[in-house]
Amino acid sequence: MIKLCTPDELDKMRVVGRMMADLLNACCEQCRPGVTTGEIDAFCRAYLCTLGDGTAASGSLGYMGYPASLCVSVNEEVIHGIPGARVLQRGDIVSLDVCGSYHGYFGDNTRTVAVGGAETLTPDVRRLLRVTRQCLEEAVRAIRPGIHLSDVSHLIEKIATAGGCTVVREYTGHGVGHRLHEDPPVPNYGKPGRGPILHEGMTLAIEPMINLGKAAIRTLPDGWTVVSRDGLPTAHFEYTVAVLRDRAEILTPWFERDPWSADWMA
Ligand code: CO
Repeated sequence: MIKLCTPDELDKMRVVGRMMADLLNACCEQCRPGVTTGEIDAFCRAYLCTLGDGTAASGSLGYMGYPASLCVSVNEEVIHGIPGARVLQRGDIVSLDVCGSYHGYFGDNTRTVAVGGAETLTPDVRRLLRVTRQCLEEAVRAIRPGIHLSDVSHLIEKIATAGGCTVVREYTGHGVGHRLHEDPPVPNYGKPGRGPILHEGMTLAIEPMINLGKAAIRTLPDGWTVVSRDGLPTAHFEYTVAVLRDRAEILTPWFERDPWSADWMA
């Protein structure tokens, strides 16, 4: 069952969305050479307590036993990387996935950032980041009431493929609201004209997970970390959005503090 938000509920989604975007941006700013992924987790936990009235909670900590306040996935790690002793280095790309709740509503968002700046990346990895970001931004731009959900999925796949990249198929975006994961699943591939029709008041996490090499993934023995099978880099960008009367609103506006956003928000 797909739940629709009332205008009052949407206001609460805006509040938690902005909090999660602030938290994500602050964590991204910690991704410098020499910093461990565990230090980013500690920063995230501490920052969470400073938000709002202090009751904001991580959506990942304790989720099915997940042990950290955010997911930190480096290079070939697609999602669910567990923070720990790994030291970030120049030229690494890091996907930070931050989700959480405040006053009963959830927000979910992700950025992939370059440790040491975009200049440290190879042209192929730069292309991966650009293509994955384009998947997200164009998907959000296409969203409005009346289209099929799979029109969005199809668009993401089309952009990824046109950019010479591949789509991870085993994990999807999702509805988000009173809970972190709600109906409907939002695949990043598929034929257009299928699945539910979008309605005003739907709130969705749109999150393309895109590989530079082949699409195949596997899960490491830690039971969480999902990596590309071929070991090539992978990227992940995510917004929580709301379907309005004639467009989507980004509820987790992390782009406001991302220097690359100038290329996308024209
Ligand atoms: Co998500």
